Parts: sequence; structure tokens; C-alpha cells
Amino acid sequence: MNDHFKIEPSNQDYAELLQITDTHIFADEKDTFDDVDTRASLKQVLDLARGNDWPVDTILATGDLVHDARTIAYERLLEVFTSIEEPVFCLPGNHDSPGLMYELLNTSNVHTSKSIEIGAWVIIMLDSFLLNTHAGQLQQHELDLLGELLEKHQDKHVLVCLHHPPVEIGSDWMDGMRLNNPQEFFAVLDRYNHVKAVLWGHIHQEFNAERKGVRLMASPSTCVQFMPESGEYRKDGRAAGYRYLKLHSSGEIDTHTRRLHGVTG
Ligand SMILES: [Fe+2]
Repeated sequence: MNDHFKIEPSNQDYAELLQITDTHIFADEKDTFDDVDTRASLKQVLDLARGNDWPVDTILATGDLVHDARTIAYERLLEVFTSIEEPVFCLPGNHDSPGLMYELLNTSNVHTSKSIEIGAWVIIMLDSFLLNTHAGQLQQHELDLLGELLEKHQDKHVLVCLHHPPVEIGSDWMDGMRLNNPQEFFAVLDRYNHVKAVLWGHIHQEFNAERKGVRLMASPSTCVQFMPESGEYRKDGRAAGYRYLKLHSSGEIDTHTRRLHGVTG
């Protein structure tokens, strides 16, 4: 595994990325998530991206890559990811097995690197997996790594990625399984002023906010959507999608989400 990965962006002035999240690939091809064939949906979302926001320099996959953390589920995911020429960087969600990911998802164009240097930016990929719960936590070694990487790359703009939300999103059932220790996370971020954005998955819906000048973003799942501001689990009828990000050398970010039925945000 290559912990630090360097990519030369195709344009000097910016880097272009896709975030895909919560792909929830099953070990058994007959299984579905609320009647959605998750692998077919992922392929449709990637085709949508190819038709609208391509080429990109890299793709970020922000957790819940599989629904059931078994080797065969990751192999079914890899069949899709290795068909993409661009590098794909993966971090774990609550449905994943970090151990299996590090073992299986470091091949050809697929990586579990912790930091990605791309032009004027560094992307940090954190592991918030916590055993036997859908909530998340950044262990001390992840917080230490975050601090070390921020200290080391003070000449870059930084995008921090993780699976679990570090803030409440106004949805009771989902807020009950967010990041357990956001204070410790933000205490590290607040020591620096070169972090431009935090990006996560888990909530299967678009979210945009700002904290102390840092953009906070989450994105639609590539399969099932969750209803925003719902107190309990409710499926949202909106279509699957992804997020596009243009990271400018100036530190500015242009971003939108796109769903199978058009741009929504
Ligand atoms: Fe998920």
C-alpha cells in the first residue's frame, strides 16, 4: 500500500475530482438495497459522470463501499472500479471491513492511500470505522495522522475526507450515528488555516454548510437516497448521483452534485 500518492493534474490551474459514495455492493448479486440493484446503479452513475463531468483526475470513494463486508462483495466492486482508467481512492464506512479493504483494494488503479497530492492540493483520507456500530470515531492514531499531514503540507490547500458526518444534519436517526468525537476532529483542524473543505458520505443525501470558513459537504449515494430532515429512516425517491469538485490552485472550490435525472445542487 502506498500511503502517499502523487497525481499530476491534467490542468495546471485546477484539479478535477468525482466523489462517489455509499455504493453498498452486495456479495450476492441477487440482493438489493430497498429494491435497488446497487451495482447496476453504480454503473449508471458512472456512465452519467462519463457523459457530463469527464475526464477527471481522480475519484474518491467515501465508504460503505460494500453492504456486507465479505471478500466477494469487494471483488464485485473491483470489477467496476478496475474498468475505470482514473485512480480511485477508497476509505471505509460502517458497512466495510477496513482490513479487507487494505488487503483487496490496492491493485492497479485502486488505492487506500491516506494522502493524495494533486497540484496545489492535498486530499486526506481518514478512517472513522468503529466496530459493531453504525456510528463512527476517529481513533487517536487517525487524529495524530491528520495533525502530521496538516503540519507537513502547509504549502497546500487541503480537502479532508471521511465517512461519518462531524456535524448534525437535522435528521434524528442519522445524527445518532454520526462521528462520536467531532470536537477532537475540529480541534486539529482549527490549529491550521489551509483546510478548505471536509467531505463525507454516510447520509445518502446532499449537504452543504460552512464552519469557520471551511466548507462542509456530503453527497447523494450511488444507490438509495435517505429523506433529509426525517426523524426516522425514510427512503427518498430522488435518484442516485455523485459529486463533482473542481479544486482551483487559488484554493477556491467549484462543486455540484448530479443525479440520474439532472443537476440538483
Ligand atoms: Fe451508506
